[in-house]
Amino acid sequence: YSEEEKTEDYLFKIVLIGDSAVGKSNLLARFARDEFYPNSKSTIGVEFQTQKMEINGKEIKAQIWDTAGQERFRAVTSAYYRGAVGALVVYDISRRPTFDSIGRWLNELHTHSDMNVVTILVGNKCDLKDGREVGTAEGKALAEAQGLFFIETSALDSSNVTNAFQTVVKEIY
Ligand code: GTP
Ligand code: MG
Repeated sequence: YSEEEKTEDYLFKIVLIGDSAVGKSNLLARFARDEFYPNSKSTIGVEFQTQKMEINGKEIKAQIWDTAGQERFRAVTSAYYRGAVGALVVYDISRRPTFDSIGRWLNELHTHSDMNVVTILVGNKCDLKDGREVGTAEGKALAEAQGLFFIETSALDSSNVTNAFQTVVKEIY
């Protein structure tokens, strides 16, 4: 690389989507600030956070967008997805209906963004072992069928949170 290339800035827009209360905002809080909110409120509108990452010795900025899972709190959809190159599609392993919604979220993603947006299916709350309603194999199978990366995370105990974001950024890069 030339000196010029080395100092070049990369800014990747990544969107978080999935049903309300699956843990999108807490995944972002854990990743960007190493924080967790046991009683977080539903997101209203859109928030985003820029996080520096280092991939293969290069500085990358991931601009991660977070919106409400609840329809009535969501901002204009097309603006949310515009320019996105990565997506985390999140469900809650302890609530089967949030897994059943994944198809609808993927439809929305593909309607409003480029077909080759790098996408990872994220089964969050894997700390809730006794409350599990969606098996790891099921998540993996859906991801495979849809051509997505797959990971199970816990924003509560930090498992795989950085890994989830890094998988997407590495693939974009
Ligand atoms: P909306 O903004 O309404 O779309 O919800 P969201 O997907 O942003 O969910 P949020 O991050 O607000 O989390 C919802 C609830 O789940 C909160 O009470 C969190 O504390 C809890 N939660 C989030 N992640 C985890 C996790 O990994 N494990 C456990 N046990 N609870 C979690
Ligand atoms: Mg939220």
